[in-house]
Amino acid sequence: MLQTEIILDTLERAGEACADPAPLIYARLFQLRPEFEKLFVMDTDGGVRGSMLETCFTAILGLLENSPTQRVIISSSRFAHGGYGVSEADFELMFIAIRDTFRELIGDAWTPAMEAAWAGLLAEITAVQ
Ligand code: HEM
Repeated sequence: MLQTEIILDTLERAGEACADPAPLIYARLFQLRPEFEKLFVMDTDGGVRGSMLETCFTAILGLLENSPTQRVIISSSRFAHGGYGVSEADFELMFIAIRDTFRELIGDAWTPAMEAAWAGLLAEITAVQ
């Protein structure tokens, strides 16, 4: 399987295991960086978190399709988040939280090929500056 197909497979399997992984993904993010939780205190209905996660998924799909637009969106979001107190290096933690949540949801069916495909995707995201 190609890297793209493997990532899409993990998205599908995680979606089957949990219809709304958003709370798990944010819990994972706040585990990685507890100080990020307070950045979302104004987001009382979860709307910002939902929309941010949707942007992350769109960015992932865009990278898999080699979309230049999604590269620009990642790059500009990385820069813009500095204004919220998220450093350019820490920006990636959101994608790491997504990968870790999927790995947990997929459980025993998570393969070394999935691990490698996600490592490749994360490296690609890091390279988009
Ligand atoms: C550790 C990583 C991240 C943290 C802590 C973080 C934090 C935040 C915070 C606090 C806001 C709300 C800002 C406000 O309205 O005052 C926000 C909004 C947003 N973030 Fe992130 N972010 C992270 C990563 C990302 C990533 C990777 C993307 C996508 C590429 C992204 C996309 C967005 C978008 C699109 C919004 C606006 C959502 C809306 O209001 O509709 N963020 N982020």
